Amino acid sequence: MRERPVTLAWSGKNGSIFDRPAVAKIRELAPAAKFEAGEVYQGDNLEVLTALAGKKPESVTLVYMDPPFLTGRLHAKIVKGETPGHRTTRVAFDDRWTDRAAYLQALGDRITRARDLLAPHGSIVVHVDTKTSHYVKVMMDEIFGEECFASEIVWRYRRWPSKTANFQRVHDVLLRYRKDATSAPRWNTLYEPLAASTLATWGTHKQRAVVSETGRRARSSTTEEKSRGVPLGDVWDIGVIAPVSRERTGYPSQKPEALLERIMSALTSEGDVVLDPYAGSGTTLAVAARMGRKFVGIDASDVAIETLTARLESMLRPAYARAKSKR
Ligand SMILES: C[S@@+](CC[C@H](N)C(=O)[O-])C[C@H]1O[C@@H](n2cnc3c(N)ncnc32)[C@H](O)[C@@H]1O
Repeated sequence: MRERPVTLAWSGKNGSIFDRPAVAKIRELAPAAKFEAGEVYQGDNLEVLTALAGKKPESVTLVYMDPPFLTGRLHAKIVKGETPGHRTTRVAFDDRWTDRAAYLQALGDRITRARDLLAPHGSIVVHVDTKTSHYVKVMMDEIFGEECFASEIVWRYRRWPSKTANFQRVHDVLLRYRKDATSAPRWNTLYEPLAASTLATWGTHKQRAVVSETGRRARSSTTEEKSRGVPLGDVWDIGVIAPVSRERTGYPSQKPEALLERIMSALTSEGDVVLDPYAGSGTTLAVAARMGRKFVGIDASDVAIETLTARLESMLRPAYARAKSKR
């Protein structure tokens, strides 16, 4: 076992999560839906991940996990009724736990299994909020090793202000770990626009640092080459899905496609396999298919499987969408 100088402890923790024995394998691995670009499994993701890891270890370039956020409540999908303006709700998933320890144990088990599926050049992104992010960070240090920690990305969004004697909570946290710190990671540098002050001083052309003989940066000089911008930082301003947006499915906690697009653009290339064990409305799977990646999705909820299957069908099988619109 690797030495872990700092670990998280809770009463009833089963030794190190990292050392937990695999749960019993599920007998059959039958997809609930199959597409040219990928497949979807319905069931407890711990069982499906264990079965997949037995069949195709180290086959995945990116795991994106968006688990329930320890909200202590049920989450429902909003379903449009027959008449305009009429809405009903259907419970989609249950986010009630006996305590934080139970939540962390369940998540840690699943992250450990997902790790088995990652290729050496691959990475995992776990999407949480401030209620759990610091606990999950320490737990992931234990599972992957501190040397595999790559980024804490802050996803900043705008939403209706709440009445609170506190700063508004307007961000989620995305923790990225690499499978193997000694392998070259899959990585494509993304750029963001130059700051207004840089544009005013230097214009849109690339700068070259002029270094003195002693190795100190003396000044910058402007080149002929157009700048692509500055390499993207770890604070991302991306809007939440607008109420009238076409991508909105009514599924609770649906994430914007733009967020997944950015993650996939940086961490995968065409043909790579992307795995989402908490697939929900299928945002990751839809974006993966659109970007020429292969996908594997898992979810336990009937509402999720129905929602994501309809979303993928209309996108990947246009005949399905046409027939549905005629009904
Ligand atoms: C926050 S939602 C994911 C939303 C998704 N990222 C999207 O954009 O639609 C979490 C999902 O995890 C699923 N889930 C929770 N625990 C699970 C488990 N043990 N096995 C499989 N799915 C699970 C829930 O049914 C729910 O659909």
